[in-house]
Amino acid sequence: MSLTSDTIKIVASRGASRPLAVQVIRHEVIAPDVVTLSLAQPGTRQAPGPYLPGQFITLVIPGNNGNIYRSYSLCGNGNPRDPWEITLKRFPDGVVSNYLYESVNVGMILHALPPRGAFILPASLRPEQTFVFVAVGSGITPIRGLLRAIAALPPGSRPQAQLHYASRSAQETIYRDEILKLDWLRQKHYLRTEGPRVTPYQIFGNAYPLSRDAQWYICGPEEFNLQLRQALVSAGTPENLIHFEIFADQSRQHLAAAASRAVVGQIAIKETGTTVDAREQETLLEALERHDYQPEFGCRRGTCGTCQLHVLQGQVRNPGNKFLTAAELRSGIVLGCIAQPQGDVTLESGGIPPRGTPIITRNVTKRPTRRKYGLRLVAAALIGVMALGLWQLTDHKVTASSSSSTTTPSVTPTPTTSSVTPTTSAATPTTASATPTTAPTPTPTAKTGSS
Ligand SMILES: Cc1cc2nc3c(=O)[nH]c(=O)nc-3n(C[C@H](O)[C@H](O)[C@H](O)COP(=O)(O)OP(=O)(O)OC[C@H]3O[C@@H](n4cnc5c(N)ncnc54)[C@H](O)[C@@H]3O)c2cc1C
Ligand code: FES
Repeated sequence: MSLTSDTIKIVASRGASRPLAVQVIRHEVIAPDVVTLSLAQPGTRQAPGPYLPGQFITLVIPGNNGNIYRSYSLCGNGNPRDPWEITLKRFPDGVVSNYLYESVNVGMILHALPPRGAFILPASLRPEQTFVFVAVGSGITPIRGLLRAIAALPPGSRPQAQLHYASRSAQETIYRDEILKLDWLRQKHYLRTEGPRVTPYQIFGNAYPLSRDAQWYICGPEEFNLQLRQALVSAGTPENLIHFEIFADQSRQHLAAAASRAVVGQIAIKETGTTVDAREQETLLEALERHDYQPEFGCRRGTCGTCQLHVLQGQVRNPGNKFLTAAELRSGIVLGCIAQPQGDVTLESGGIPPRGTPIITRNVTKRPTRRKYGLRLVAAALIGVMALGLWQLTDHKVTASSSSSTTTPSVTPTPTTSSVTPTTSAATPTTASATPTTAPTPTPTAKTGSS
C-alpha cells in the first residue's frame, strides 16, 4: 500500500477543543491492576470520531474542584467502525486511573477531547520497510494500535517488524497472549522475574538485523526513552527515524514550585480578556495551568504538537522550530509545552478557562490546511475498510518526533485579529440512537481538587 511518504504533522487545536460524549461499552480487567475500556459514540458500537493508530484521547473527568484531564493511548487499528479502546494501569494513589478501574461501568457516559498525537506510522507502508517497536509496561498501549494496523494489511504487504517488550512478569505482560500469536512479528520479551531491569543498551544490542532506515517507536518511562534515543543517535540513527511517546505526569503537582520564582512577564489572553503572570523558567503551558487554565497537551516535550498556542504579540524562547513549519512560526503558532515567554505576551486562547471565566471573543482562527493529515485519515479509513474486508473474506479473528526542541530561538509573531472557538467544559452527547443506561456525573474520590 502506498499513499504518500514523509512525516505528517498533526492539526492541533491551538487552545481547546470541545469534548465528545463517549459511552463505555466494555470494562474488562485484563491483567493485575490493568483495565481495558471500549468507548463508543453513545447508543452505537462505533468510534466516537476518527483517529490514527498510536494517537491518544484525553478524558475530561468532573472533579470536586473543576475538571481533571488525563490522556490515554488508543489501542485500535484506526477502524472507525470499531469503538475506541484504551488500556490503563492504575497508579497506587492515582485519582483518575483508580476511578476508571473501580467506579466506571458499562453504559456510563464519559467525555473525551478528540484524538491527538504524532506517534503514528508513516502514511506509506511497504514490505521493504523495517519498524522496531520498544515498549515498557503500559507503554505497549499505543504500540498495540500500530501493530494492529500492520496486522490488518495483507501478509505480503506488511513491513518487517520487531518488538522488544519489557514487563515485570509474564502474568503482568499486557496483551501477552495476543502478541505472542502474531507470527509475522519478531519479538523479544524481557521479564523482571528472569533478570535485572532491561537497559536501553541491551535492547539496542538485541535488535534483530536492521536496515539503516529502520524506524524506531519507543514508549516507556521517560528516562528509558531518552537513554535509548541517545544510544541510537550515538550509533548514527537519524533523529527523524526515532519516535517516542511519553506518558507525561498530568497531576499538576509540579506547578506550585514556580509560584515562588520571579515574574518574567504577563500573559494576556484575548479570548477571556484576562491576564496571568509567567515566572522564571516556566513554559506558557505551565503558567496557564498554574492559573487554572486547561490548555491541551500530550507529551510535554515538544514532540507531539498537541499543545499549539497562537501568540498574537510578544516574544517566546524555544517556540518549537523542530516541529512547526516556517509558515506556522511566522503566524505566531508555538508549542506551549516548551515555549517560554520573554516579557509580556498576548495569546489568542489559553485553553479551557477557569470555571466561571466568560469568553469575550468568538472569532475562529482559519487554520492552514494540512493536506497530508487529511490523507492520513483517508489512509486510516482505508486500512479500516481493508481490515473489515479481510475479516469478511476469511475466518480470521483479530484477537485481541522525534526529539524535543532544545535550541533557543525566539519568535516575534505577526499580530492577527482572529481567535479560536471558545469552549465549555462539558459537552452534550452528539448523537444517541439508543438511550445510555446511566449518565452520572462521575466524581473521583481518591483525591479532591484540580489535579
Ligand atoms: C499522551 C499520553 C498517553 C497516555 N497513555 C496512557 C495509557 O495508554 N495507559 C496508561 O495507563 N497511562 C497512560 N498515560 C498516563 C495517564 O494519563 C495518567 O498519567 C495515569 O493514568 C495516572 O493518572 P492518575 O490520575 O491515576 O494519577 P495521578 O493522580 O495523576 O498521580 C498519582 C501519582 O502518580 C504520579 N504520576 C502520575 N502520572 C505519572 C506518570 N505518567 N509517570 C510517573 N508518575 C506519574 C503522580 O506524580 C502522583 O504521585 C498517558 C499519558 C499521556 C500524556
Ligand atoms: S504537549 Fe506534545 S508538543 Fe507540546
